[in-house]
Amino acid sequence: MDSFWNKLPKPFFVLAPMADVTDPAYRRLISETKNPDVMWTEFVSADGLYATREKKKMPDVENPLLRDFQFSESERPVVAQIFSSKPEMIAYASKLAAELGFDGVDLNMGCPDKSIEKQGAGAAMIKTPELAKEIIAAARTSGLPVSVKTRIGYNAVNLEEWLTAILEEKPAALTVHLRTRKEMSKVDAHWELMGNAVEIRNRVSPDTLIIGNGDVQSIEDGKKKIVDSGADGVMLGRAIFGNPWLFAGRASESLSKEERLAALAQLARYFSELRPAKSYHLLKKHFKAFVSGFDGAAELRGKLMETNSYQEFLVLSNSKEYSSV
Ligand SMILES: Cc1cc2nc3c(=O)[nH]c(=O)nc-3n(C[C@H](O)[C@H](O)[C@H](O)COP(=O)(O)O)c2cc1C
Repeated sequence: MDSFWNKLPKPFFVLAPMADVTDPAYRRLISETKNPDVMWTEFVSADGLYATREKKKMPDVENPLLRDFQFSESERPVVAQIFSSKPEMIAYASKLAAELGFDGVDLNMGCPDKSIEKQGAGAAMIKTPELAKEIIAAARTSGLPVSVKTRIGYNAVNLEEWLTAILEEKPAALTVHLRTRKEMSKVDAHWELMGNAVEIRNRVSPDTLIIGNGDVQSIEDGKKKIVDSGADGVMLGRAIFGNPWLFAGRASESLSKEERLAALAQLARYFSELRPAKSYHLLKKHFKAFVSGFDGAAELRGKLMETNSYQEFLVLSNSKEYSSV
């Protein structure tokens, strides 16, 4: 199938989905510096989309799940990430993603969150490979190119069986977070296994693009990991914390105090505009990331952490304290 995936540069660098971090507000800020080669939305529950739209008949403008699904043209290509263990729900949400104009749909088969695993979705999918295959086939009915993001096994590494099952469904792309479900994010990502994943791809589905994920610190670091492993691209997640210039190749240490504070103020503004129903406190993880690495950062961060609304943030960010730390 011809899609944006076939038109990407090689190697390529994509932004990881991170719930309540790479939301529409932060993605807008990133797209004003330098876009990754592909953007992902945060994950959205396919069952939730169905229940709110079809059962509760909630108007789209009031639907918080659809707010998570919004994107701007400047983010393209942009992929909608969904999760469910029910093929009919995946088919429903994938079709909706197509109607909304997304470039692709991505299936989350790696999230270790208990509430998601309880539904048989996220990382729990690793234990039901036959169902995972049905889920991929269901997403394909939308006409969008389908990708999968997963881990290297559940309790133990199980690349051969698990990746083979997914690749037999010929997804357009496969992102491999190089940790098992059991390892969560507590150990270093197993980059030494990426070459094996690439071999399985070459054997089972050579047209599927394969993306390595886990602990990639910068574009330079990603380039090296791609050369060493043979992956087509890498996905960067936590390296974007406090550094919207990541994809422009800038290291966090190179950002000036002024750049950090101006970027944070812009992010807070976008958050208040694009995420009005979300708790202001979600911004606080960004305070930690942006307000660091310069004299007076700890003190200013402390004051920011005490704010309870965007209005309070504005008062502080317009004060001398913010500009003259
Ligand atoms: C705060 C946070 C939220 C995340 N949310 C998602 C998500 O919605 N969907 C997903 O597939 N992975 C999610 N992840 C996992 C990341 O996409 C990525 O696989 C992981 O952070 C490893 O990459 P990194 O070492 O580059 O951060 C999340 C990770 C973090 C830290």
